[in-house]
Amino acid sequence: FHVDMDPNEADKGTYPFYMLKEVDEQPNVMRKLTQTYLNGEGKPEIDDQLIKAMQAADRLYIVGAGTSYHAGLIGKRLFEKLTSMPTEVHVSSEFAYEQPLLSAKPFFIFLTQSGETADSREVLSNVNEAGYPSLTITNVENSTLSREANFTLLLHAGPEIAVASTKAYTAQIALEAILAKALGEDLGLDAAKAFDVRTQLALVANGMQAIVDEKDKLEGLSNEFLMDTNRAFYIGRGIDQAVSLEAALKLKEISYVQAEGFASGELKHGTIALIEKGTPVIGIITQAKTASLTRSNLQETIARGAKTMTIVRESLATDDDDLVLPDVDELLMPLLSVVPAQLLAYYTSLNKGLDVDKPRNLAKSVTVE
Ligand code: G6P
Repeated sequence: FHVDMDPNEADKGTYPFYMLKEVDEQPNVMRKLTQTYLNGEGKPEIDDQLIKAMQAADRLYIVGAGTSYHAGLIGKRLFEKLTSMPTEVHVSSEFAYEQPLLSAKPFFIFLTQSGETADSREVLSNVNEAGYPSLTITNVENSTLSREANFTLLLHAGPEIAVASTKAYTAQIALEAILAKALGEDLGLDAAKAFDVRTQLALVANGMQAIVDEKDKLEGLSNEFLMDTNRAFYIGRGIDQAVSLEAALKLKEISYVQAEGFASGELKHGTIALIEKGTPVIGIITQAKTASLTRSNLQETIARGAKTMTIVRESLATDDDDLVLPDVDELLMPLLSVVPAQLLAYYTSLNKGLDVDKPRNLAKSVTVE
């Protein structure tokens, strides 16, 4: 088994760990995807056969594991808003052995950085047996999931070496946005026509750069909130809740903090019992219609002693917020809100003296079921 990579791209250079390098590469990955999949006028250039195959479906099924599954949770929002196609997201290890009832004409999208995850391969082999059409979105050309699906779109993120996935998550979301735009525009939908994905991804790239330039601040927040705890919560609603799952996973994977991503409105139905003096609760607030609700949920945790931090988009921010994110289209805010979470996990791991790139018990690519 051999993977072609540019030796320069796989070089850490002056970075102490690959993870930090890969976090920093995200603005360029956004630009690379724009150049690869959008023409000069910002129109998507995606294989017409793929668009036709997806349009022939009555429902999209996104399947993935780990961080790729989390990118699928954002993809669901993008596909449903921009294409009006019902979209389900499934964890591959669950789907493989407890397949939900499928619609009459399903179309499968496999999200996988490596293209080799055994659980996802198992689902694809069932899908192929049943004769359903499929697309693999992957970072690795000629990987198994790429070869075995009907269509492939490459992430062009460059090799991702750190076990904790960062740039593959944001690349998957950006490519899902481009694909949803292409599909929705072809269907003549106003929401897709109005979604200027090229400009938005340019704003995202600049916004990511502004966040990664705030490393000192993020290291400070990691020291203040996460160094002396073995548990933490990320909370949010809707798309922010989906990002909170990925944010919590980063913290678990590399800093061994028992972190939970949670729907903020659901806290009061049980989980708030876990909040005690000093428990860190980080709120992600990027959606206008739920911002004040998440803020009052944060207040409820403060009343029980929680130490809170907020990650908020500029147009919803106040002077008291800890991290302010540049404004982009609400559907693309995950591309920005996840970046501080990646860096908080990085600095917590680093300053605990852990091996950031090779956390215990984990593998980059899991080829057993
Ligand atoms: C492993 C990695 C995760 C990754 C997951 C899915 O668990 O440690 O970072 O998200 O596999 O991998 P894939 O290559 O299918 O995206």
